[in-house]
Amino acid sequence: MKRLRFLLTFFLTAIVAVSIVTACNPNSTTSGSGSNSSSKSLTMATSADYPPFEFVSTAGGNQEIIGFDVDIAKAITEKLGYSLQIQNIDFNALLSSLQSKRADFVMAGMTPTEERKKNVDFSEIYYEAKNTIVAKKGSNLIAVAGLKGKNVGVQLGSIQEELAKKIQGLTPVSLNRISELVQELKTGRIDAVIMEDTVAKGFTASNPDLEFNVIPNEGVAGSAIAFPKGSALPPEFNPVLKEMIESGKIEELVVKWFGDNSPAAAQKPAT
Ligand code: ARG
Repeated sequence: MKRLRFLLTFFLTAIVAVSIVTACNPNSTTSGSGSNSSSKSLTMATSADYPPFEFVSTAGGNQEIIGFDVDIAKAITEKLGYSLQIQNIDFNALLSSLQSKRADFVMAGMTPTEERKKNVDFSEIYYEAKNTIVAKKGSNLIAVAGLKGKNVGVQLGSIQEELAKKIQGLTPVSLNRISELVQELKTGRIDAVIMEDTVAKGFTASNPDLEFNVIPNEGVAGSAIAFPKGSALPPEFNPVLKEMIESGKIEELVVKWFGDNSPAAAQKPAT
């Protein structure tokens, strides 16, 4: 009898121990519908210099990365039962963070170009964009032809950098962050910046000495989610993203973040 009780206690303890270990294992692959969210975590890498897509908000005293892309990422990961970590790194280092598996996906207003597709996989495009020239008001730098002989700022590693390199006769100045480009433009060290329309809209609204003019797009434009090549995530993410596009949820976020009353419009220029 004593022996039986001993065995029973032993087995019960073993079962409890095994369940505790399983519940705590962060790599636990139990897939599920949200009930298991604490055990599955994904890391998104972004370059939070791009309001209203992603930027650092200091509202309320603490720093938080918020924006259109962040809301989409939160909605998708929540639906799939993952918790979300966000890493802020330079735009130019985003793709290598996927290749080295330091991040599970990238959302950074990133355009799915053929060149990038050689190294990473993309979702479908969830938001379209146009390129613009941002320059001092009255400088008359409103079209590509006018950029001849000028110093033109672009973000390092962006499609705008590729574009600037292709335009004959200008000197591209590549910097890490969009806010640095805006500063250089205001002090006159560069003459113009090529950046996307929604971002240009915000920066020119908060810097009334600047204006922007849309230029014709070359090649693919817009934003998509990037994953490491061969990642298991796209088959999970893509249907949720598609549903968000079709149900009007993305449109709702467009109004929230790109509308005139957006939190980014109220935000002081990011520095
Ligand atoms: N769409 C452009 C690209 O993919 C620029 C994106 C810049 N994004 C950022 N978070 N700074 O190259």
